[in-house]
Formats: sequence, structure tokens, C-alpha cells
Amino acid sequence: MFIGIDLGTSSIKMILIDQNQKILATANSTLTVQSPKDGFSEQNPQEWINSTMECFEALKLKKPKEFSQTISIGISGHMHGATLIDKDGNVIRPCILWNDTRSHQECEEFEKQSFDVRSISGNITMPGFTAPKINWIKNNEIDNFKKIFKVLLPKDYLRFVLTGEFFSEMSDASGTLWLDVKKRKWSNQLLSCSHLEEKHMPTLVEGNEETGILKRDFKDRFNFINEIKVVGGAGDNAAAATGMGIINENQSFISLGTSGVFFTPTKNSLSNIGDAVHSFCHCLPNKWHLMSVMLSASNCLDWICAVTNTSIADTLNNVENFYSDNNLVNNSSYFLPYLSGERTPHNNPYIRGSFHSIKTTTNSTVLQYAVIEGVSFGILDGVNSILKVNKNFENIFMVGGGSKSLFWIKLLSTILKRKLSVCDQSEYGAALGVSRLAMYVDKDVPNKNIIKDIVVSRKFKPQEEKIELLLKRYKVWKDIYQSNKKIASSLLT
Ligand code: XUL
Repeated sequence: MFIGIDLGTSSIKMILIDQNQKILATANSTLTVQSPKDGFSEQNPQEWINSTMECFEALKLKKPKEFSQTISIGISGHMHGATLIDKDGNVIRPCILWNDTRSHQECEEFEKQSFDVRSISGNITMPGFTAPKINWIKNNEIDNFKKIFKVLLPKDYLRFVLTGEFFSEMSDASGTLWLDVKKRKWSNQLLSCSHLEEKHMPTLVEGNEETGILKRDFKDRFNFINEIKVVGGAGDNAAAATGMGIINENQSFISLGTSGVFFTPTKNSLSNIGDAVHSFCHCLPNKWHLMSVMLSASNCLDWICAVTNTSIADTLNNVENFYSDNNLVNNSSYFLPYLSGERTPHNNPYIRGSFHSIKTTTNSTVLQYAVIEGVSFGILDGVNSILKVNKNFENIFMVGGGSKSLFWIKLLSTILKRKLSVCDQSEYGAALGVSRLAMYVDKDVPNKNIIKDIVVSRKFKPQEEKIELLLKRYKVWKDIYQSNKKIASSLLT
């Protein structure tokens, strides 16, 4: 038996699988995010621990015998978060999350060096990444900075609590900006840009390697029989990819979750710094990936539903009817989906969301359509950015909450002019990915059987008759960004 833990932004999800990867039980526990100021996004790591314990209890209750026979655990987590640990192993302050944009000035400071920072990290320094967050702490909370013994990513802090060990792995470590992504090792030069040294970092392994044994307290508390091994695991996107069997370069997926991600593996380390593409290691040895990230995807839908006081189901229904009339679409408003700034392709922490072309006839359905279309255009921006350096992917899989809307997938397929496939169990995809990684440390499981192809449940193809109209609107939408960007920073208080 194997356990996969997925420390997501809004909840912890956990699964228990058997040797055949049959999911025996699942558990879920919600987490909260604090936003003390515009652009700030934080979480209390203690919540991660409490929720993990709740999920262990839930799995145990559902399948006591199988749960007790667990052999190994894999952990996935939301990436980039800075969890600061003092010399006694205590958390110094709330974790600053991936969607926090407070450190935009520190990004410039981080890159102002006598060497080319980007050529080592393979990435642009963006406020979402871990490194500039530490420069912000040094500039704004010097007492906290002085207490730093280790900087851990969220899932690596959870590992520390479960095993007492300081480890990370390549996929998540890539998002710190302190990793030499090509060489898969910490870079002393990059660490020095944040006034840190290698001693502040956890030891690096690959995602399928062992990092320690579950502590005795937990073994006894949950009646586990074995000395349970905890493997390196993965950042949430690499984990989701592994759960779908996306580890080779002709494969790819789009995730319509809180963030909107397009992910495709590569054989070597490639990068497109100009368009703020993320160039990271994959969670298995000698594999890398490219990724575009938009910060607000399905949370734009949540936002417009709250503002128009309409349920998600009703909104999607309204929008689908609206979309069937080309004339309505042609005259519709536009929406820039940048509720908390944008990464790919703009790297712009100052830009915010906005509606354009509001008329006396504009009603809530028009706004709802504009939001869904705007997020889909953002995904197209991401795919186009990756196409500039890598054209190898063909079929694209859809995952994340937004992928439950068949209408949205149809729209995206048309906007991208590509076939899209939907697969089952996407909610637990990342947890499945890391439980697969956990299987590598069980001698009884042949390695070649671990990464299986996903089962496709439906396929969508572009609606040819709508392509021209939507691409015409995409051009206008891009122009709107170009003119808005000029005033974006002056609008922020
Ligand atoms: C990736 C990123 C997000 C988070 C949260 O770079 O910031 O996808 O991992 O899911």
C-alpha cells in the first residue's frame, strides 16, 4: 500500500493505493489563505499539519487494514512558498505563497549581479518564486531573516514534520531560483543573491528517491506496521503530470485550477526567458519540463460568480447559450484576467484585472462570458510562449476544477485550435503522481510498470466555424493588455 499526499493551496488531498494503483480510499481537508494586504498571500504551516493528521485519520477509518500496511509515502505541494525554520525547527513566520507578489522590487535586486542570474536559473526572477521573498524578508523583517536556519518549500516542511529530515527534490527546488536547473544542484552563486548559503538548503534528491522514515510517534499513533519510507515527491504540477503519465516530451496538459498551467516535458533543459516561461526539472531523473503559469484561472470564474451572485453551474449555462450566438460573441465585452498580476507571458506584478467595452446593453452574462474567454486567451498566451521553444507536444490533457465544464473545454479547444482530452480522477492527480513515486522504493514493484498512461474519458476537437471570430477577438484582447500595461503601476496604491 502507498500513500500520496497533495498539499494544495485550498486543501490537503490524500489517497491510499494498492500495488495495482487501485485507489482504495481518499481524504480531503480544507486550508485557508490569508491576504493581509493586496498582493499578499500567506498560510499558517500548522494548518498543513492539522489537515494532514485529519486525512491520515480519515484514510485509517475507511480502510484500517490496508492503511496499516502502508510501505511508503510521496508528498506533493504547491510550489515556491517560503517556509522559514529556526535552529530549533520552529516556523519563524507564516509561509509566503506562490501567488504573493509583494517582492517585485526585490526581483530586480536579486538579478543585479556581476554574473548572469537567468542563465543559471533558466528563469526570469518573478515575485512568485521563493528567492525574492527572502530578499523581501531581509529588507522588511530583518529579525526574522537573522533567525533563518533552513528555507523549506511547503511540502518539504511537511516532510520535516513527518520524518525530522531536511530534504527537497528537483522539481520543486527549481521554483526557488537557487537551483542550477541544468546541473540539478544548488547554485552557490544564486544563493548568494539572497544572502544565503547551501547550509540553509535541504539536501536534494530525485522525486522517486528515499528521504527518510516516518517518525515513531506517527507510526504508533496511526498503527502503521512498517517502517514507512518517505520519498522526494514533487511540486504539484510535476506531480499531476506524473499522475497522468506525462513524463515524455510529446505529452502535455493544461490545468484549470486556481492558477492556469500549461505543462510539457522536455528531454533537455530548454528555456524561453523572454516570455516568462518556467523552465524546471521534472521529478524523475534526467527529465525537465516547460510550463506557462497564469496566476488567476478558475478563481476568476469564482470571482465573477460571487460578484454577479450566480452559481458556477448557472454561469456556465448562461455563457454556453450566449456563446452559441456569434453576433453576441462578436459584440461582447473583454476581460483581462490578471486579478493578482501575471507571470507568463508578461511577468507583470502591477497589472490587475479589467473589463473593456462595457455598453448600456452589457448584462451579467456578457461579463461572465468575457471572464471565461479572457482566462482561455491567457491559456493560449501560455501555449504560444512554449511553442516558441518547443513544438513537440500533440494531444493535450485537461485537468483541474475548470476542466469539469465541457463547455469551457470546447471553447478552449477552439481557441487553441487543438484537440483536448479529458481524463478521470483529475482531482487526485497530484496525489496519485506522488504515490507512484513512492512505489519506486518498494523492491517488489518493477519500475517499468509504475508510470502508466492515463485513461481518456472524452476527446474534444475545435469548432472550425468559431475559430476566426475568436482569434479576431484574441488580437483585440492582446492590444488591450498593451495599452493597459502603460498605466498599470500608476493604478496601484
Ligand atoms: C507554479 C505555481 C502554481 C503553484 C500552485 O509555478 O506557482 O502552479 O504551484 O499550484
